[in-house]
Amino acid sequence: MDESNNNIKEPEKRAFLKGAGLSIAALLVGGLSIERYAVPKDRSVPVMDNFPLAILEDPSGQPVTTSEVIEFAGAKTTTTSSPILVFNYPLQDEPTFLIALKGVKITTPNTPPSSGFAPVPSGTDAPMDGIIYDSTTNTSILAVSGICQHLGCVPPFLDYHPGQSVPFESELIGYKLNGAGVKKWPDYGLIYCKCHGSQYNPVWGGRNLYNNGPAASPAKHSLPQIMLATDSNGYIYAYGINSSNAVIRTHLNFPGGETYGSGVKSEDLTGGTAIRQSTRSLPANLSLYKNTTLESVAPSSLGTNQSSGAIILYKTTVVSNENKNGLNWKGTF
Ligand code: FES
Repeated sequence: MDESNNNIKEPEKRAFLKGAGLSIAALLVGGLSIERYAVPKDRSVPVMDNFPLAILEDPSGQPVTTSEVIEFAGAKTTTTSSPILVFNYPLQDEPTFLIALKGVKITTPNTPPSSGFAPVPSGTDAPMDGIIYDSTTNTSILAVSGICQHLGCVPPFLDYHPGQSVPFESELIGYKLNGAGVKKWPDYGLIYCKCHGSQYNPVWGGRNLYNNGPAASPAKHSLPQIMLATDSNGYIYAYGINSSNAVIRTHLNFPGGETYGSGVKSEDLTGGTAIRQSTRSLPANLSLYKNTTLESVAPSSLGTNQSSGAIILYKTTVVSNENKNGLNWKGTF
């Protein structure tokens, strides 16, 4: 691995608006793929050959804690996560949603529900691998890629709309707030792509492609789930992508293109722009759900990106479109 590419000085600006503008253009010309624009131009330069272990920080450089994310989600006791929180992972300029779902314990569905809204699985099931679950507030913290798996639109055109904040564009395809015999917007909300109408159900975790609305999603795959862990301080780390889920669609260098299965654990990230390295110390242990059991594991067991046998700790910044509850996390996108 070429470490020189891991000290990239470019600011943590996000290319959301650039991508969003391209997405509008794609919409206007009838669904022209923006993928060839969304893929970084420098994808011939080796960056990292496996997923990075990254600590999530706020715009001031302080580690983000689980309690802050829950606080940011607001005082509601039902599902909500507004305004949206976004960080880049696994590469720079690859947005990922950080969503706190109150009143929901996300578990691993045996099979994705095929009809109805059926949002909340049995309360006795264990939380899904890779989520953070706070039993005190019955809140699941979930991270999923913010790159639409149809043609690659990104926030704010791909956005989570909690509760009854039904976007106008989804009403156009037939969603209704109320009324018999119509498809109602789920109370827990959906991730909705305004480019062409793909819908993703965040309470289904990594199996989130949603086709139970009035119109099917043009996307064929779920938003890849980014795996999360915490340390003894409650700091949040991202450490990979759920291998049961699709590889991020814009990672065209993956052999054979889009795929499922164990190969995703070591997806080829060659050629993208790495997120920045952190100067913080590695946590001694990380707490995470693995095979539906809460485990304490050493970072070295995660199989994340290393150099000369040492784990490299990266960092990525969580931003929102506004400040909230005393947390100044407003960022540029
Ligand atoms: S890019 Fe087409 S629905 Fe999202």
